[in-house]
Amino acid sequence: MPALLLTNIGQLVTLQGPPGPRRGRELGESGLIDDAAVLCHGGRIVSVGKRRDAERDSWLKFHKKTVQEVDCRGGVVLPGFVDSHTHPGFAAPRLVDFEQRIAGATYEQIAEAGGGIRSSADGVRKSSRRALAKKILSVLNEMTAQGTTTVEAKSGYGLSLEAELKSLESIREAAREWPGTVAPTLLGAHVVPREYLHRREEYVRAICEETIPQAARRKLAQFVDVFIERGAFEMDEARAVFAAARKHGLGTRAHVCQLSAAKVEPLLEFEPASLDHMDHVSDDDVRMLAGRNTMATLLPGANYFLGLNLYPPARKLIAAGVPVALATDYNPGSSPTSNMQFVLSLACTQMKMSPGEAIAAATINGAHALRLGAGKGSVEAGKDADLAVYAVRDYREIAYWFGSNLCGMTIIGGKIRELSDHECV
Ligand code: NIG
Ligand code: FE
Repeated sequence: MPALLLTNIGQLVTLQGPPGPRRGRELGESGLIDDAAVLCHGGRIVSVGKRRDAERDSWLKFHKKTVQEVDCRGGVVLPGFVDSHTHPGFAAPRLVDFEQRIAGATYEQIAEAGGGIRSSADGVRKSSRRALAKKILSVLNEMTAQGTTTVEAKSGYGLSLEAELKSLESIREAAREWPGTVAPTLLGAHVVPREYLHRREEYVRAICEETIPQAARRKLAQFVDVFIERGAFEMDEARAVFAAARKHGLGTRAHVCQLSAAKVEPLLEFEPASLDHMDHVSDDDVRMLAGRNTMATLLPGANYFLGLNLYPPARKLIAAGVPVALATDYNPGSSPTSNMQFVLSLACTQMKMSPGEAIAAATINGAHALRLGAGKGSVEAGKDADLAVYAVRDYREIAYWFGSNLCGMTIIGGKIRELSDHECV
């Protein structure tokens, strides 16, 4: 693979910084370099700096003929987005739920009436592994075109041993055909499936004693997730699932405090990589999370799509020193978007994060939420060459213009993967 030199970068957001999740004031430190260049080789970033230094570099002069040079036309370059919370393993959109919500029903009422997550299970159980893999691959490609290079992908719409393992297999199959990085998560504990409604302890036991051990043995998942909510799972059930995950060497993450308050403290002994949504987190729990490496992953796409007035308390979490990440929550029930640029817009307009904070939360902190911070999420020598070029002059524009795709080129592992003819205006 030839070396790749990105040059004529108007603004490079490096997010260079000390190792570990960014928190507090550090979250807003973008490590901007104007008029920059980045050299990639062997899939990694080799050097990062001013364009004029790259032009004077003797190695580059000597190898000029073999280096592929990309003129970024004065645009903005960011590390590839790390979308650390997605549910791509479903068969169909939930348009009935959508219309019922428009007519006034809540997410929970729709679920109780037979819609919601359980209704997605029918489609997944009937789908072949290949059909699911194709759908997953198509959204991964859509994500690449929007500047995303690493994605966490959950199962959770199968809700049986077979269908959850099939979902994880389809995630693996899609990941093998996609140049980016996929972190697979088992979300068997999304909701109790219909056939177990009156024997939920049996379903939890099956997850702990069958699904988790099999997924771990076959290396189909890196993490185990649980949806802790009224109508989904209780805290003690979640702790049982986390204990099984730990026993089998898998990391943990949870959906918690999305629609109602819950205590998160009982989860902390498992050192979850991330606690997600967190809309209703209590002040005591915020204090408890401060200074830890458990990420609070905020998913404002779900608030937007469910038409909620309340958004996750980003400012409170940041002020307390809790590391925050942003992700799409791509799923058919509450957040059907694959666009991290739109999530940045929501974070700024609805949660009052600055554009710089939102970008750090969507890149370096997303990487830490997946325990991938050592290799991804910032533009630094030695890290993976996952980058995206935007057709704007100022990085803040990526959060400012909303509803369109400003990404003109995506580079994964030092190779150009997506190219559009957006021009910087
Ligand atoms: O993150 N909350 C649970 N899971 C998803 C919604 C899934 C669905 O409705 O299909 C979420 O919002
Ligand atoms: Fe989710």
